[in-house]
Amino acid sequence: MKEIILNHPMIEHKISILRNEKTSTKEFRELVSEIATILCYEALKDATLKEVEIKTPIEVTTGKLIDENNYAFVPILRAGMGMVDGVLKVMPNAKIGHIGLYRNEETLEPVEYYCKLPKNIEEKTVILLDPMLATGGSGSAAISMLKKRGVKKIKFLSIISAPVGLEKIQTEHPDVELYTAYKDLSLNENGYIVPGLGDAGDRIYGTK
Ligand code: PRP
Ligand code: URA
Repeated sequence: MKEIILNHPMIEHKISILRNEKTSTKEFRELVSEIATILCYEALKDATLKEVEIKTPIEVTTGKLIDENNYAFVPILRAGMGMVDGVLKVMPNAKIGHIGLYRNEETLEPVEYYCKLPKNIEEKTVILLDPMLATGGSGSAAISMLKKRGVKKIKFLSIISAPVGLEKIQTEHPDVELYTAYKDLSLNENGYIVPGLGDAGDRIYGTK
């Protein structure tokens, strides 16, 4: 079990702007993307490198490259899409899959509506993307969908997580590595993270 919470003044700064209800859609989107870049950088700390020969203008030397073919990014629609630009800055050649899930507003249970994953997904490390981990229902269901299709290694990147959501993933999927920018206090009676930032999808797409 691995839970990494980013602890950095720049994250505090960016999260505070994200939380502000007056932050524009444009700035919100940019910040989600920037935090995703930082989370991805952290999640790739253990990436395996392969040695390559390089001819510099001076001499031939050896260098190391990440095999991007070993990775796939999988955003959970919709809000997870907001993180894709940011993670592609770190690994521009990784393949991208999509999982469609939404939370039933009354039961808070995830409802699955789409799944399209890159070829040979079972051989790749999947970096699952969703800015919000609230009850953990959507995250846990997305992980189960990936495992059902043979995925063995999953890293889950979220921007704000509630303790109950982190616990749910750790209990149901102890093999999944969790990277979150900020751990918030709790959930309210409607299943929203407190203090949170509201509905991430609506704020990214300006739908409310
Ligand atoms: C949000 C969010 C997560 C989910 C988190 O999506 O992006 O997927 O809720 O809540 P949970 O941990 O309690 O499951 P939402 O259902 O609002 O769909 P959207 O991204 O399409 O707006
Ligand atoms: N989904 C969101 O977008 N925000 C929350 O606070 C909880 C679930």
